[in-house]
Amino acid sequence: MYTYEKLLLENKAWAQEKVADDPQYFERLSQIQRPEFLWIGCSDSRVPANEITNTQPGEIFVHRNVANLVIHTDVNLLSVLEFAVQHLKVKHVIVCGHYGCGGVKAAMDNHNYNQVLNMWLRNIKDVYRLYREELQQIKNEDLRFDKLVELNVKEQVIHLAKTSIIQKAWKHEQRPQLHGWVYGLKDGLIKPIFEMDHTTEIDPLYQYDDL
Ligand code: CO
Repeated sequence: MYTYEKLLLENKAWAQEKVADDPQYFERLSQIQRPEFLWIGCSDSRVPANEITNTQPGEIFVHRNVANLVIHTDVNLLSVLEFAVQHLKVKHVIVCGHYGCGGVKAAMDNHNYNQVLNMWLRNIKDVYRLYREELQQIKNEDLRFDKLVELNVKEQVIHLAKTSIIQKAWKHEQRPQLHGWVYGLKDGLIKPIFEMDHTTEIDPLYQYDDL
């Protein structure tokens, strides 16, 4: 049997188990989704949003990319954000990074990963530059790496607050709350790092009028 065939077999077994537990399970889920959370996480296979939060299908709207970045020209991420905030009316947007993130690590060295990855990782180098003084005071390289993971999450949350999508929802509906979290691959625990909500003052340079 090929490895992918095992996935299909497991899917059948899973679906049967769900129906055995709750005959209306798929019927109910197929009608509507009302997730309370949008999750912006890393693509890393070891950080599955539902599994590490013990949530079920229907509970978390998910977007994942390399190193959980919020980039203001990323149409993919912005579409997800707009849909989640304006239509699903999520109450919380969570940016969840993780210690040991390969994308963040790669941005700390000078290797040429070739153009597309270089472009993507450049955004993390920009975070490093912004916090260079704080980071360079940390002599231990592993601890500096951990700190950059945390600062990267914080900076991506700040990026969310710079979008008119978030500012508009804050102004009219006082939601969503924004959260920056970091997941530990070694202990399975999530550490909250940073929060913002409609009461947070943001840099006036990024504030939109006429929302
Ligand atoms: Co990662």
